[in-house]
Amino acid sequence: MAGPNQSKPSSNPPRLPPQSRPGPLRCICIILLLFIIVIGIAILITWLIIRPTPLDYTIEDAKIHNFNISSNNALNATFNLTIKSYNNNHKVGLWYDSMDITIWYDKQMLAFADVSPFFQRKRNETTLHVDIGAMATPLMTSVAKKIKNDRSSGEVELVVKLNARIRFKVGAIKSKHYEMAVDCSPVVVHFSPATPFDRVHCDVDV
Ligand SMILES: *[C@@H]1O[C@H](CO)[C@@H](O)[C@H](O)[C@H]1NC(C)=O
Ligand SMILES: *[C@@H]1O[C@H](CO)[C@@H](O)[C@H](O)[C@H]1NC(C)=O
Ligand SMILES: *[C@@H]1O[C@H](CO)[C@@H](O)[C@H](O)[C@H]1NC(C)=O
Ligand SMILES: *[C@@H]1O[C@H](CO)[C@@H](O)[C@H](O)[C@H]1NC(C)=O
Repeated sequence: MAGPNQSKPSSNPPRLPPQSRPGPLRCICIILLLFIIVIGIAILITWLIIRPTPLDYTIEDAKIHNFNISSNNALNATFNLTIKSYNNNHKVGLWYDSMDITIWYDKQMLAFADVSPFFQRKRNETTLHVDIGAMATPLMTSVAKKIKNDRSSGEVELVVKLNARIRFKVGAIKSKHYEMAVDCSPVVVHFSPATPFDRVHCDVDV
């Protein structure tokens, strides 16, 4: 009697369908997959709510005052810029913790200025009026020659760059710091204040 009974259990295991007992590895995989899907959906929803849009920068006006180049090629000038910064985001505010503006001509920096830190609310347009002075900035001989030619032709082609350390603010949450680089080129400035300025749209890179 014992003989045939004992042989039964030994023949049972092979008949079990292999899927009925999922291995621990399979469980972990399924949990991980669900986890990833939930996180993905959460990120998607957050993104849809916040819907970040790029920042918009333009140079609305630019003038040069007190332009003078000394005999040893040192430049004096005041660059008067009107810069418009538009935060078109519905949910995102911006902390500008530091910002500097530099003016370039022919790959040489002519002048720079710091802008004091400010907060830009969502959907806010901020206009920055900045007077940036070049005080006896030494010019390379070739640059001085070119810029003197431009002076007589009546207009000069500049590049204006803004660099800022920013943080994004959504509700009460502040992001880490990001570097923002704004590049406005070419900025054609007329020496005669009567000639109207053509607005320049800048490239913004965060
Ligand atoms: C430039 O500066 C020199 C010396 O300071 C002065 O004599 C000259 O009139 C100035 N030129 C202009 C265009 O302001
Ligand atoms: C430039 O400005 C400096 C300081 O303000 C002054 O000493 C110098 O004479 C100026 N140079 C010219 C060419 O105007
Ligand atoms: C620069 O422009 C602003 C606004 O247009 C004006 O208030 C300021 O006096 C100007 N600065 C100079 C040096 O002309
Ligand atoms: C943008 O924010 C600045 C500073 O808070 C404020 O002075 C300005 O009026 C705002 N502009 C608009 C269009 O809301």
